[in-house]
Amino acid sequence: MPPAPELHTFADTQELVQAAADFLVQLGQRAIAERNRFLVALSGGSTPKTLYATLTSPTLARRLDWTKVHFFFGDERCVPPEHPESNFGLAQAMLFAPLHIPPSSIHRIQGEDLPEAAAISYETLLRRLTAKPEEPWPVFDLVLLGMGDDGHTASLFPGTPAVSESTRWVVPSSAPQGARSRITITLGVINHASVILFLVTGHKKATVVQRILEKSADDPSPYPAALVRPERGRLLWYLDCAAASKLTTTPPHSTSHEDP
Ligand code: 6PG
Repeated sequence: MPPAPELHTFADTQELVQAAADFLVQLGQRAIAERNRFLVALSGGSTPKTLYATLTSPTLARRLDWTKVHFFFGDERCVPPEHPESNFGLAQAMLFAPLHIPPSSIHRIQGEDLPEAAAISYETLLRRLTAKPEEPWPVFDLVLLGMGDDGHTASLFPGTPAVSESTRWVVPSSAPQGARSRITITLGVINHASVILFLVTGHKKATVVQRILEKSADDPSPYPAALVRPERGRLLWYLDCAAASKLTTTPPHSTSHEDP
């Protein structure tokens, strides 16, 4: 039985990303102390912007040896890296460049390639860099996830084949709007992470948050985010008050930071 999700609510986005940044740094310190590296899969969308701005602030940036951090992506839009919709492009501008992350520590999905080719090459890279010989799945120290108001996460959208993929690690997918052609890691990769952290803000997501977090685990659910259930790791949901506003049992309100 997977461990129950750990829910935390925050007054607003800034408080949430401050706690998330501190949690990431603490996880990184522990991973680097234990294994001399910290493997993080970044999410896309817009929420990461505020997280990146917080992580690059002097007080936080100096707390982690960024030379030991390897950055991956949970998904990417099928666009070139300089495209405004590129998840890598956002991270490059707002996180990697300010922290002077060396290119050898940045492992992007090549959105400019044909989707199937990009998925295959990313899976090959993941197998080379993140899997332990005895493990059939990669083990990320941290997978950061957002959630859309339709319950998608990464680029796993309701009713699409990518959601039910059970052997491949990386597959092409399609979004119903915006940058439609995507590449995404699959639920098997997500669910084998040591720590999975959802960052969800805004009233628009409150209904889906409630349906996911307050339905019993065996209820059929069309929401891909509801299928994120770690095999052995931890699952945390960081919610601002707006996103948590429809929960009948209010999670503990956090004002600071999670001890990993
Ligand atoms: C993407 C993301 C996607 C995102 C959610 C939430 O590439 O779009 O991976 O899953 O996390 O859509 O996006 P916001 O943070 O912008 O609400």
